[in-house]
Amino acid sequence: MATFGERIANFFSGNDTETQEGLHGLFVTELRNIYYAEKQAVDALGEQADAATTDEVRNAFLQHQQESRNQIARLEQVFQSLNVDVEEGSCAAIDGLAEDARMVVSNTHSGSLTRDAGLIMAAQKVEHHEIASYGSVVTLAQIMGHTQAAQLLQQTLDEEKNTDKKLTQLAESFINDRANSESGDMGSSDRDQYSGSVVNPDGTRYSDSSSQTYQSGESYSGTQSGSSTGSTGTYRSGNDATLGGTMGI
Ligand SMILES: [Fe+2]
Repeated sequence: MATFGERIANFFSGNDTETQEGLHGLFVTELRNIYYAEKQAVDALGEQADAATTDEVRNAFLQHQQESRNQIARLEQVFQSLNVDVEEGSCAAIDGLAEDARMVVSNTHSGSLTRDAGLIMAAQKVEHHEIASYGSVVTLAQIMGHTQAAQLLQQTLDEEKNTDKKLTQLAESFINDRANSESGDMGSSDRDQYSGSVVNPDGTRYSDSSSQTYQSGESYSGTQSGSSTGSTGTYRSGNDATLGGTMGI
């Protein structure tokens, strides 16, 4: 019979010798659940890109969709490094979050900025879920000494955090744009500070394709915090504020 100390040590190395259950099984199960979630996210991002109003949001989703495909391939590398079968688990959370995003689409008008704001919020909920999931499996991989897996998973965790910050920047640019358009009393220098700042008075799709509008995936390629400069314009960003509030990550 193992001592309590030995049992703890075995648990953190992967298996409780008394029950044959432990962190290793939890780790692999969680990886399979994340694998499933990433695949669902790829499909959901495609739907959301199709539904988006603006090119900026559409391109942000398409860019992250491709990033997610790379993350799926990285997870397959993780499975191989652990010498376990590549299998999809399940994830009720991602199913629900994807459904929430569909509700945003059905509850907003096509071509409205409100739809894009809602889609960004929905996408950030997915990102926060992924950040929590990857953060957990990075910790488990480190505890059990799976160095390669830990490095691969950390890479994805960093990407997810970066995506979340980019979405925040994008959201704030829309909020600023809208406020700028609706107030109508800001000076030209303020207007010029925001790219694509032409919003129809009713708040629906703005169709400005002039040089002030930043283009496609370059639109939010600046730094992750503070004021950042994109390819053709400057937009403000906060620290870690999401569309709906602040976050502590
Ligand atoms: Fe992801």
